[in-house]
This record gives sequence, structure tokens and C-alpha cells, in this order.
Amino acid sequence: MFGIARFAFIVGLATTLCACGGQSDDTTAPSGAVSGVKPVAQVDTDRIAAAAEEPEMWLTYGGTYDEQRHSALGQINRDTLPELGVGWVYETAKPRGAEATPLVVDGVMYVSSAWSVVYALDAKTGEELWVYDPEVSGEDAVKGCCDVVNRGVAVHNGKVFIGVFDGRLEALDAASGEVIWSEVTVDQTKPYTITGAPRVFKDKVIIGNAGGELGVRGYVTAYDVATGELVWRFYTVPNPEKKPDGAVSDAILAKLANETWGDDGAWVTDGGGGTAWDSIVYDTVNDQILIGVGNGSPWNPDIRDPNSDGDNLFLSSILAVDADTGEYRWHYQTTPRDRWDYTATQQIMLADLPLGEGGADRRVVMQAPKNGFFYVLDAADGELISATPFTQQNWTTGEFDENGRPVLIQDAVDMALTVVIPGPTGAHNWHPMAFNPDTGLVYIPVNEIPFFYDKTRNVEDSKSFWNIGYDAAAGWPVEYPAGTLDAVADMDGGSLLAWDPVKAEPRWAVPFALPLNGGVLSTDAGLVFQGNKFGDLVAYDAETGERLWAEQLVGNAAAAPMTYEIDGEQYLSVLSGWGSVSNLIAGFTYGQAAGKEPARVITFKLGGNEMMPAPLADQVVATPKSPMYGEPEQHQLGMQRFAENCHFCHGAFAVSGGVIPDLRWSAISASEQAWDQVVREGALEKQGMVAFSGHLTKEDTDAIRAYVIQQAWLAVGNGNASAPGGY
Ligand code: HEC
Repeated sequence: MFGIARFAFIVGLATTLCACGGQSDDTTAPSGAVSGVKPVAQVDTDRIAAAAEEPEMWLTYGGTYDEQRHSALGQINRDTLPELGVGWVYETAKPRGAEATPLVVDGVMYVSSAWSVVYALDAKTGEELWVYDPEVSGEDAVKGCCDVVNRGVAVHNGKVFIGVFDGRLEALDAASGEVIWSEVTVDQTKPYTITGAPRVFKDKVIIGNAGGELGVRGYVTAYDVATGELVWRFYTVPNPEKKPDGAVSDAILAKLANETWGDDGAWVTDGGGGTAWDSIVYDTVNDQILIGVGNGSPWNPDIRDPNSDGDNLFLSSILAVDADTGEYRWHYQTTPRDRWDYTATQQIMLADLPLGEGGADRRVVMQAPKNGFFYVLDAADGELISATPFTQQNWTTGEFDENGRPVLIQDAVDMALTVVIPGPTGAHNWHPMAFNPDTGLVYIPVNEIPFFYDKTRNVEDSKSFWNIGYDAAAGWPVEYPAGTLDAVADMDGGSLLAWDPVKAEPRWAVPFALPLNGGVLSTDAGLVFQGNKFGDLVAYDAETGERLWAEQLVGNAAAAPMTYEIDGEQYLSVLSGWGSVSNLIAGFTYGQAAGKEPARVITFKLGGNEMMPAPLADQVVATPKSPMYGEPEQHQLGMQRFAENCHFCHGAFAVSGGVIPDLRWSAISASEQAWDQVVREGALEKQGMVAFSGHLTKEDTDAIRAYVIQQAWLAVGNGNASAPGGY
């Protein structure tokens, strides 16, 4: 599997990470605590810094500041695994994608889910203590590239911090869920969103944002934990005038970044990207913040920055800044002049590895970003120690020039309907990896999802909210030659990879037929836990990858499991549920529409004997409600517009990922009038289905309807009503 790419054809606009849409009119007010445990969250930064000595808790997003996601608990081990059963299950209030890692502090679990809703639960029983709903407007759902997800909260001195989808950062009273302070961290007239977990360090709380697919300028901001006052802000790319912002990034942007951008192009109007939407990590030893910086906006650099061939700093970089002041320390750019949506926002992990002189310990930064290389850098100065492909990649030769830059493959730059792997979904995305200091291995959820990049047609003409600068329907011809479906199925895949970061080589891999499997937890008992696309939660042997235990969850777990202990009992928890990036690429990676299960916290313990909830009955009645109509030209136009505007939420080829309606079988698709009310006039806007009359003509939306119905009939004709029809 580490050999050359093995593909022929591909498909599908896979993308940054997830899916979109929503519902938010039912308001859940904070309810009073009823159980014996008190949600007080007495956690200061010293306590988080010593989190490894308190493995009964899970005090910060990645477990500890080093974000290794390795627990010292060992009651659940090879011998006791057969006794592991369901302890309790909690169903979240609002459906859609589930990506969060719960925190556990002194008997209380704090967990977030879709629409940035926060839940405080009794960690022993799952009993609800309070729920806080920030009431994100359904209309904001369209600003998300990848669903209205949230990856987690932070806690500090009696407060719970949540980054809200619409750009707010809020401090909640840990005891009641009431808002203590709320700051708007972005210009809400622009398509900014927040999906990442805030991190707390030295009485500050830091948050970034997302929006690189729609056109924004990235930055991170540190706020005072007590008051919400802004302490420092660091912009990851220059502003269009290349003038000072009055921010701590001014000096370094003037010194290094300005000259790497030209003076015109889409970046001037749309911000250039560089959003820090996931990994932002505190390095206690070097007293610095490490920021994972995102892709360029739009993706196509010929449109983004047409009159320069600069690197576009600090896109796709790991940036280190001073924790107190935010001043620049060092950076390493993983993908110079990004053109493939190769974010470097993926998990940043710190560790001491025997990579110093004579095998002495050296403090390093590790990252497996979207571009398919595993990086090991010196944490103190950013020196590159190793950069090695950890899976298939065909955008570089695998070599580096004398300046340490990857040597590119020209076809991957030219992009005339070129298949490049990794695609924008990334060889590794937000799904957390884990490091076991005993085995010395990093466990990575790896994706193999190629992508058709085409900058030769349909790029100027994009009318969508998304703005990537490539043909959104590249690789979507209506008629594929026979065998395409098999070729695609053969190409898509993934693995759980055990990577040796010292030797820079793989140790073992568990291959999967499908990509986008779940995040990972490692424990001292020599176990690696991971949920997968097939709905299983599995325990593997950390040394060999042997599958030791598995339980079928209800819904699939893309989020990472975590573990904690109360009254001498070890618990294992994971947030399960469909949605997220799955919606987007359902048709290709699943070959069928996925489930609709709501997000649930599913918690296991030894001797647990609760029942797993029964799966929802499949409500999809796969019968087209309208006869097929329209000429090939209309279907072609409909496909193009659907790819540009709808598939991010409704799925590639109109095959839904589950939690957003499958338009092929919708009664609304059958009626021109109902279709117009929803698609053009926004009848379902509150639920996250925005009005398109400002973006698309009636001719466009009629063509989309004809295409959707054609897809329904093709699927029926193929004898598999839940599979893509357009081959
Ligand atoms: C930001 C995500 C998003 C995008 C983009 C989007 N939709 Fe939707 N759409 C939704 C959600 C969420 C619903 C379900 C709303 C509800 O709960 O009733 C929906 C519902 C619909 C429905 C009603 C289906 C039914 O049976 O209830 C139609 C029709 C529809 N969308 C068409 C489209 C078309 C056509 C496009 C592209 C032009 C599009 N949508 C783009 C999120 C989206």
C-alpha cells in the first residue's frame, strides 16, 4: 500500500472535511443540576499541564497539552476486554455531524455536538446536568464547508468555553451552563465559521476559524479567560493592502509574507485563506503556541494570486508564536503555494523522541497533514528532522530540493482534469491520531481519496457559495464507461496506520475498504481504540495491529474515543453519529446512502450491560416521485450546477450521506412549485436550506431538478436504488 498510486478513474468532489445544513428553532434553556455531582470545573493551567498524572480525567481536547491522546489507565486491557459492555448512552438534542471529544472533570462530562450545543452530563451515569444551545441561525449553515459540526470545549476555573459556529467564543458557567461572556471573534458578514475546540493556556483562551472554501482571511485570537478581552491576534496571511493591521503579526507579515503574494487576484477581494480551523496547541516547554494553518482561498493559485509565483505565506504551515505576546517564533510551510487544498491544520502533537545527538531525547512537533507526508520538526526552532510520505501521493516526486522544498510533479500542477492523490479530503483530516510512548508509534487514521482537479474549464463561471477556482463537476460526466464504478470502489480506501516517527517508516497497517474512519485513542494497556465507517468500535493490539475486540455501535464513530475513571471504574466514551464530510462523498465512498442516526455519547465499562439503542428504521422510500424528463443538455447543466451549489450538503451525484434529505426520493423534487419555494425562495431556510434565487437563475434550478430526477431513475435502472445512478 505504500507503492505507487493504483488508480484509473475517479470521481467526486470530495473536500475539506464535511457536510452542511440544519435546524435550530427548538431552544433548550439551561436546566438545573439534579444529580449528586457538581459541575464546577476547577481546572487551572497548572492542572492541565499535569494532566498526565491525573489519567482519571480528560482535561483538554487532546488529553494533555502535548495532545498525544494516550491514557495511563489500564483496567480495560487485553484480559478484561471481553467484559467490556455499554454503561450508558446519551442522545444529543440536535442531529447532524458528530466530531467532538468529550472532556471529563471531577465526575462531569462536558461535550459539544452539532450546532455548537454544549451538554454537561454525569460522567458515571450519563444523566443530563444542563444543556446550552447558542441558537445558531439555520441560515448560517451554508457558511460551513463541512457541516455544522463542533470538535469540543475547553474548561478553566469554573468556566466551559465553546467556539460557536457563527463565530462567537463563549464562556459558560460550568455549574449552570449560563453565559458569562460572549465575544464575536469574526466579521459575521463574511463566511467565517468555527468548528474547532478552543484551548486554554496561561489565563488565555485561543480560537481560530474556518471558511477557506468560501473566501475569508485566517487568523487566531487569544482572549482573557476571565473577561473575554482580546489579548493578541495573529493573522496568518497579509491583508490586501499589505498594510499593518495593528496586530502582533504585523512585523513578520511585513518581513516574510508580503513579498510571497502578488498585488492582485482573488486573494485581494476574498482574503486568501490560511484559516486555523483545528489544531492550535500550547507547548509548555518552549512556552509557545503552535498553529496549524489552512489552505489557500480559492484553491487555484492562478486565480488566487495570478501575477506572482510566491509561496503565499503562511498558507499550509505550522506556525510557532510566543504564548504571552503572540510574537512570531518560527514556521515551516508543508506545501509551498498550496493548490490542492492541502491544509496543515491537522493535529499537531508534541513528544520527546530519541532524535537528539547520540539518541538523546529531543522535543519534537509531529504532524500528518492532508498532503500525505509525516513531518517531524524540532519544537524549539522548527528545524525539519524528517518528512516522509505515509501513504500514496502523486503531487511530488518524494524528493526535496536543496532548500528543503518538495519537488513537484508537473501534471499535478497543470491540472488538466488530472487525478491527484491525496485529494482535498486529505490523506489525514481532522480525525485525531494518537501516540503511545511505550511502542513509540503514532496511530494515524489514513484516507486514500483521489480527486479530479481541473483548472481548464468551468472555473470563471462558478456561481456557488463555494469558491475553489476549479471545476466543481470535474470527474462527474453523466455517462461513465463500463467498469468505472468498480475502479472507483477499488481506489477509495483507508487504513489505521502505525507509524514509527523515529525511523520514519510504517510498522503495521489495518487496511479498510472505505476512507474517513474515526479518530484514535491509545492506552497504557497496549490498546488502540478506533471507530470505523462500518459502525464498529474496535480495540487493536498497539504492537501488532491485531484486532482484539469490537462492538457494533448504533451509527458510525468518526470522533475519537476517550477514557476516564470514576470510583475505581474505567470508562471508554465515544460520540457516534453520521454526517460531517461523509455527506459530501457518500456516493463514491459508500456506494450507497448512509444512515441517519442522531449523535450519541456511547460509554462503555467493564461489566456494562445496557442495551445499545436500536437503529432507526430506514425511512428512505427509494421511488422517484416524478417521471424522468429533460434533454441531455439540461441534465448536463443541472449536474454542473448541482456540483457547484448543492453537493456539499446533499452528497455527490445527489446520493445523500444520511442526515440531509436525499433529493432523488424527495416529494419536493417532484413538484416544480414546491421545488421553487424551497430552492429559490428559501422556505426551509431556518433548517439550514438557504434560498438560491440570488445565485442561480430559474433555468439553473429547473435543470438541477431535472438532473436529480434523472439520477433517481438511473439508480432504479441500475437495480440499486440507494447507489449513485449517474454512471
Ligand atoms: C448548507 C447545506 C445545504 C446546501 C448547500 C443545499 N441544501 Fe438543500 N437542504 C439542506 C437541509 C439541511 C435540508 C433539510 C431541511 C429540513 O430539515 O427540512 C435541505 C432540504 C432541501 C430540499 C427539501 C427536501 C425534502 O424532501 O424535504 C430540497 C428540494 C433541497 N434541499 C434542494 C437543494 C438544492 C437544489 C441545492 C443546491 C442548489 C441545495 N438544496 C443546497 C441543506 C442544504
